[in-house]
Amino acid sequence: MKSTGKKQQSMGSPFFIQMAVHDLRGPLTAILNGLDLSLQTEYPLEPEETSRILRLCLDSGNALMRQIDSLLDIAQIENNSLLLHPQQVDPRTLIDNAYRTLANTFIEKNIRLDMRYEEPLPPFQADAEIMRRVFVNMLDNALRFSGRGAAILVEARAEVGGEGRRMLALSVTDNGPGIPEDQRATVFDAYRRLEQTEQAPGARRGMGLGLTFCKLAVEAHQGRITVEDAGGGMSGARFVVRLPIEPSSS
Ligand SMILES: Nc1ncnc2c1ncn2[C@@H]1O[C@H](COP(=O)(O)OP(=O)(O)O)[C@@H](O)[C@H]1O
Ligand SMILES: [Mg+2]
Repeated sequence: MKSTGKKQQSMGSPFFIQMAVHDLRGPLTAILNGLDLSLQTEYPLEPEETSRILRLCLDSGNALMRQIDSLLDIAQIENNSLLLHPQQVDPRTLIDNAYRTLANTFIEKNIRLDMRYEEPLPPFQADAEIMRRVFVNMLDNALRFSGRGAAILVEARAEVGGEGRRMLALSVTDNGPGIPEDQRATVFDAYRRLEQTEQAPGARRGMGLGLTFCKLAVEAHQGRITVEDAGGGMSGARFVVRLPIEPSSS
């Protein structure tokens, strides 16, 4: 696997470890408080209220799992020990699987996922599970920065890249605040969270590792991830992943 760690800050420093552990406490605290509230007997809750609290606990548990996965994966990619298991991946199945992971949040926030697939859309060689997590991270960000009732757009098409290489371009576009131009180069750095992006009210704060994982994972597949203005009548950010359809022969 290609080495990708050149510009990344090392995650092994005591400062980063302290920050990571601190950030993991957020969703864990939410889970413990929720369980505490649903088990207490002093103020009996309606069953619907208990279900709602438990669903929030489940969301927080899933978020916590994603944060831990990102931390472990980034550490593995950084020391070149992440093993990829490449297989034929159908882009539509990939997006469906990522959507399914987050379906709860799409439904809760009443957000629609629009899909625009340009034929022919060939399968590509990739680690399906790692790629699913890349798109879960991108969709999770799009969801967090989208208001209720908004739409998120996923586009996929085959392209010819540099040196005539066949590539697959997959993008996620939202109607959120977007990424200011001067921050687009650093938004993929570890622990980067933009101060000026207004999150949707009530949205949980992330660790700033999701896009770091996406970048390292895409680069491990000899691909690239970039961010641009949404365009096409949408107001937010568009994250584009370009992946080779066939592995390189070298
Ligand atoms: N779709 C988006 N719209 C606006 N800002 C975004 C979007 N995706 C990411 N960002 C900004 O980039 C930062 C880093 O994203 P990420 O690495 O996924 O970390 P996290 O989601 O844990 O905050 C976010 O905190 C946010 O400031
Ligand atoms: Mg994120």
